[in-house]
Amino acid sequence: MSTPERIPAIVLGGTGYVSGELLRLLAAHPHFELAGILSDSQPGEPVAKAFRHLAPVVGDLAFEAQAGIEALVARLSRVAIFGAAPHGVSAALIDALLTRAEAAGTDAHVVDISADFRYASAAAYEAVYKHPHGAPARIAQFTCALPEHLARAPTRHVAHPGCFSTATLLASVPLLALDLVEPTLFVAGVTGSTGSGRKPVEGTHHPQRHSDFYAYNALAHRHTPEIAACAAAASGITADFAFVPHSGPFARGIHVTVQATLKSSPARPAPDAPALLGALREFYRDAPFVAVAAETPHVKDVAASNYARLSATTNGRTVAVTSVVDNLNKGAAGGAVQWMNRLFELPETAGLTAPAAGWT
Ligand SMILES: NC(=O)c1ccc[n+]([C@@H]2O[C@H](COP(=O)([O-])OP(=O)(O)OC[C@H]3O[C@@H](n4cnc5c(N)ncnc54)[C@H](OP(=O)(O)O)[C@@H]3O)[C@@H](O)[C@H]2O)c1
Repeated sequence: MSTPERIPAIVLGGTGYVSGELLRLLAAHPHFELAGILSDSQPGEPVAKAFRHLAPVVGDLAFEAQAGIEALVARLSRVAIFGAAPHGVSAALIDALLTRAEAAGTDAHVVDISADFRYASAAAYEAVYKHPHGAPARIAQFTCALPEHLARAPTRHVAHPGCFSTATLLASVPLLALDLVEPTLFVAGVTGSTGSGRKPVEGTHHPQRHSDFYAYNALAHRHTPEIAACAAAASGITADFAFVPHSGPFARGIHVTVQATLKSSPARPAPDAPALLGALREFYRDAPFVAVAAETPHVKDVAASNYARLSATTNGRTVAVTSVVDNLNKGAAGGAVQWMNRLFELPETAGLTAPAAGWT
C-alpha cells in the first residue's frame, strides 16, 4: 500500500540475482517502496515463485511486462528506477522508461547496475562490448562512480561501477589520489558464484566450481577498462591495471588484492604499514560503509551487507591492499540504493545498515 511520503521504486531485472537483492533491500527501506518489477520472461507470475526467500515480504506481487511498467512510470509523480538487466538490454529499456517519464512529467532518477552507462561514449562501450549501444543520447545523463569517491553526482542518473570494480576502486583510488604509488597496479580478484548471475553455464555450474579455484580471462577481463576509467576520474591519475580475476568456491562475496610499487624519495620516504592504514582511514573518514583495519579482511566480514573492509601492508617497496565487498549488495544492489538515497537527498545510509550475515 503506497503512503504519500514513500518514494515508489521500480526494479528492472526480473528473476535475476541482483534484482532479488534489490527487492530484499527495498523491503526494509524506510523511504522507498517497491511499486513494480519488470520480468521479460515471467510477466504475471508471482515474484515469490522466483524468490522463495522473499515470500514473507512480497506477498502476492506479480512480475510485470514492459508495457505495464511504462504505464506505471507515467502514472507516478516521482520514481526511483533501479536497472539490473543484462548489459546490452538495459540501455534501451531505461531509455524507453525515461522517455515515458519525461512525457508524463514524472520526476525520475535511475541507477543502472549494468555496464551500459559506465562508459563516457558509445564508441568506448562498443569497443569492449562489440555491439551498438542501446541509447547513446542518454550516456551524458549518467555518471559512473562509487559514492565514496564523488560527493555529488553532476548528472540526474548514475551508473554503478560493478562488483569487481567496487572492491578494486576502494583499494586503488586512495593509493593513486594520495600519490603513494607508481601508476601500474596489479590486481588479483576472487568472486563468488552469484557474480555470474542466475542462468547456469558450464563454468558456473556447482560441480565445476565448488572445491575448486582458478583464474579466468587473465589480463583480458572486460571490466578492466571500466576500472581504469573510474579510477582516473576519481583520482585524477591515469593508471595501468593488470587484472586477473578468479573463481572462488563460495556463493557471495569478492576479495581483491591490489599491489603496486610505493613511490619513495629522500624528501618523502615510502610509508610504513601504520602510515598506510592511517592514510586509508583518513581518506575514508566520511565513508560510512568503509572500514579500514590492520587485520586482513575476510569475505564473511561483509557478505550480504553494504559494508566494505580494507587492510594494507608493505615491505618498504611494494604495498598490498586487500579489499572485500559483497558482490550482490555493495557491489550491485546496495551500492545502487546508496546512490539512490543521495539522488533523492535521503540519508546515505537509509536502509543499508544491516551488518553482514557472518555465516552464509
Ligand atoms: N551478479 C553480480 O554480482 C553483479 C554485480 C554487479 C553488477 N551486475 C550486473 O547486474 C545485472 C544483473 O546481474 P544478475 O547477476 O542479476 O544477472 P542474472 O541473474 O542473469 O539476471 C538478469 C535478469 O535480467 C532479465 N532479463 C534478461 N533479458 C531481459 C530482457 N530482454 N529484458 C528485460 N529483462 C531481461 C532476466 O530476468 P527475466 O527473465 O525475469 O526478465 C534475468 O534473470 C547485469 O547487468 C550484471 O552485469 C551483476
